Amino acid sequence: MDNTSGTPSSSTLPVSVVGLGLMGRSLARAFLRAGHPVTVWNRTSSKAAQLVADGARLAPSAGDALRSGSLTVLCLTDYAAVLDVLDGDDVGLDGTTVVNLTSGSSSDGREAARRVERRGARYLDGAIMAVPSAIGTADAVVLHSGPRSVFEKHEPTLAALGTVTHLGEDPGLAALYDVAGLTMMWSVLDAWLHGTALLRTAGVDAATFAPFAQQIAAEVAGWLPGYAEQVDRGSFPAEVSTLETDVRAMSHLIAESEAAGVNDELPRLIKAIADRSVAAGHGTEQYPVLIEEFSKPSGAGQAESSGR
Ligand SMILES: NC(=O)c1ccc[n+]([C@@H]2O[C@H](COP(=O)([O-])OP(=O)(O)OC[C@H]3O[C@@H](n4cnc5c(N)ncnc54)[C@H](OP(=O)(O)O)[C@@H]3O)[C@@H](O)[C@H]2O)c1
Repeated sequence: MDNTSGTPSSSTLPVSVVGLGLMGRSLARAFLRAGHPVTVWNRTSSKAAQLVADGARLAPSAGDALRSGSLTVLCLTDYAAVLDVLDGDDVGLDGTTVVNLTSGSSSDGREAARRVERRGARYLDGAIMAVPSAIGTADAVVLHSGPRSVFEKHEPTLAALGTVTHLGEDPGLAALYDVAGLTMMWSVLDAWLHGTALLRTAGVDAATFAPFAQQIAAEVAGWLPGYAEQVDRGSFPAEVSTLETDVRAMSHLIAESEAAGVNDELPRLIKAIADRSVAAGHGTEQYPVLIEEFSKPSGAGQAESSGR
């Protein structure tokens, strides 16, 4: 970066990291590697030893760490720990910037933003979609939400952590994207494991099924943009197949699972949701109409279909 103007380049801006667990230590190391002066603080100070040997400064208190950086990254167990630290005696937040990469819920993120901003600080909430060893590489995706101007100001510094993105002004968005990613991940894995269990009853091992499963997952992923348009329009014309046709195939899946003696909870759940949508009159529409079932509390959907 051109630094002839006397303005500090992003890599000379001081950064503080509060919370030196497995993840916090990786974050601090990535900032050190990128050339930032790094101040660290941890409740158990011994965890800072290697970072100090590598050039970090150990702050005597969390308040000192928050005063030392152009921004302070928090990475603690949970939001209760975040509030413990921020409510500490010597912690003044006026004029500071806090980037909170602790995992939590969207309401945790929004509440932390309100509390921190009320005390005169700028706040970004974040979520780390990576393991500690990936931090500092492009594979580490770090999500941020909160004021765009704050993100843009600090993006060159935050980029030391990996691939950083800003999702929107609502500070709850990082946590929501985080859990939306998790529901995708576990649903795909559970579906693959169920399919694997079925095929193993016929002597097909997991490694043989995996490439076929991968192909199916990639094909289904390709449908998402078109299906998303239907969801956003709220209109679900059956261009490929109707929900009723899908429900018949779901019955085959349950029957096959029962006959094979494998767990049938997943196909039964899939069919129960689709059955409610058919009962509500959507049988001739296309699969994404199920967004209506997924958009209401579970109890509400079940009560309606059972006439309660
Ligand atoms: N590790 C991962 O693979 C990963 C991946 C994505 C996201 N994350 C998220 O990153 C955050 C940190 O994870 P981690 O793996 O680093 O956890 P960790 O190794 O258990 O570290 C937790 C940190 O929180 C501190 N802490 C807890 N309660 C505190 C309190 N009341 N006051 C002050 N400090 C407190 C601990 O301090 P002490 O050292 O004194 O106990 C420690 O520095 C979590 O929200 C986690 O979900 C982790």
